[in-house]
Amino acid sequence: MSFALITVRPGRPEVSVDHQVKYLLQESELPRQWYNVIPDLPSPPPPPLHPGTHEPVGPDALAPLFPMALIEQEVSPERYIAIPEPVLDVYRLWRPTPLFRARRLEKDLGTPARIYYKYEGGSPAGSHKPNTAVPQAYYNKAEGITRLTTETGAGQWGSALAFACALYGLDLEVWMVRASYDQKPYRRLLMEAYGATVHPSPSDLTSAGRAVLAEHPDSTGSLGIAISEAVEVAAPDPAIRYALGSVLNHVLLHQTVIGEEALKQLAQAGDTPDMIIGCTGGGSNFSGLVFPFLREKLAGKMNPVLRAVEPAACPSFTRGVYAYDFGDTAGTTPLFKMHTLGHDFVPDPIHAGGLRYHGMSPLLSHMYELGLFEAVAKPQSECFAAGLRFARTEGILPAPEPTHALAATIEEALRCKETGEEKVILTALCGHGLLDLAAYGNYQAGQVTDFDLPTEAVEDALKRLPAGV
Ligand SMILES: Cc1ncc(COP(=O)(O)O)c(C=O)c1O
Repeated sequence: MSFALITVRPGRPEVSVDHQVKYLLQESELPRQWYNVIPDLPSPPPPPLHPGTHEPVGPDALAPLFPMALIEQEVSPERYIAIPEPVLDVYRLWRPTPLFRARRLEKDLGTPARIYYKYEGGSPAGSHKPNTAVPQAYYNKAEGITRLTTETGAGQWGSALAFACALYGLDLEVWMVRASYDQKPYRRLLMEAYGATVHPSPSDLTSAGRAVLAEHPDSTGSLGIAISEAVEVAAPDPAIRYALGSVLNHVLLHQTVIGEEALKQLAQAGDTPDMIIGCTGGGSNFSGLVFPFLREKLAGKMNPVLRAVEPAACPSFTRGVYAYDFGDTAGTTPLFKMHTLGHDFVPDPIHAGGLRYHGMSPLLSHMYELGLFEAVAKPQSECFAAGLRFARTEGILPAPEPTHALAATIEEALRCKETGEEKVILTALCGHGLLDLAAYGNYQAGQVTDFDLPTEAVEDALKRLPAGV
């Protein structure tokens, strides 16, 4: 045996750039401002309207539901909004989050594309949702609120808000979409561990829930129904406010910490993105990653294609209409101009419960109309296959929602294999799937079917859009 081949080099061994996998930032590099994309758009999004008068609603109309600080952010003309120091202190528990280069997935696919993913699953609740749950709880606490209500689909948002409420000593009541309540008992247990109270929705605790149950006793629920229930409890009580985990401008704003960090991390890697891909339920993780890159794109500094991916069973961008509609099923919210499948559309109970919303963020909807990004829809079996491929190469089991983005990422990387393009693809891995194992189990047992959404179901729900707006 010879030792002649071992060369001892003095000093620290260098990490080869060819092998670097994680791009990390220091806590001191945490973004200190949220980025508001609206002032950079060619036109602002249409305002929410009062359902009776069809006049734009002012901030006062939102006051029974949200604290004033969040309402101000909702309509803010400022490009940047300072993140309060106490919120930064909490962000430090998991931020900055890592950017990974998916070298093993690339190799498995045999693609010349360079795939990066920004991983938000290391937050306490396991997804990007605490990025907005924490400031929402903070501002409510600061304005003397003692209790919050909310809805949750997959339970990711509910557990994020439960975590934030625990930190700020707020009570929390969550209406969890029935399909997820049954499919994901561990999410409910996590919310309860943080101290929240969880009800399946539709429930008999509200008139909105009772109305649905009277007509459909076995209803699997929807985010629209759960929102109606949470709003109904919060609106009349001045000590209670409602919190929303997606869709609204202030939620998208809070998520921009993701993209601000990713910009710095990709620069560290010496790359600029040719394509950015994210899944869209109400639009918050996609916006959070994309908006800071879009700012650079609009300034002529880069030119990535931006691609939103939605489930084929709930395709608001690709098969919905752009119209004024209610944000909830019972019709208690103002009217929002958005891509919608109709406020009483109840999506098939697909496993990606966080993507089962009939509408879409009004801001993103406006930007889609402006042609600032594109959208595709994916059936869930392709997404689960992508999730497993990712887990078996990169090690992280993704939440069912971001498997939609991964399916589109893999599709694009395989296209690059055909063309030989060395495209730089950045994707949002916005949550882990360790509490979604039952869904993966069903998929592996061959029990996950793709739902072919009939055109008549969409046409039928659209008949009940509010008239005359
Ligand atoms: C992990 C995860 N990803 C994505 C979503 C979809 O929401 P959004 O489009 O607001 O990111 C959810 C919603 O609950 C989620 O839990």
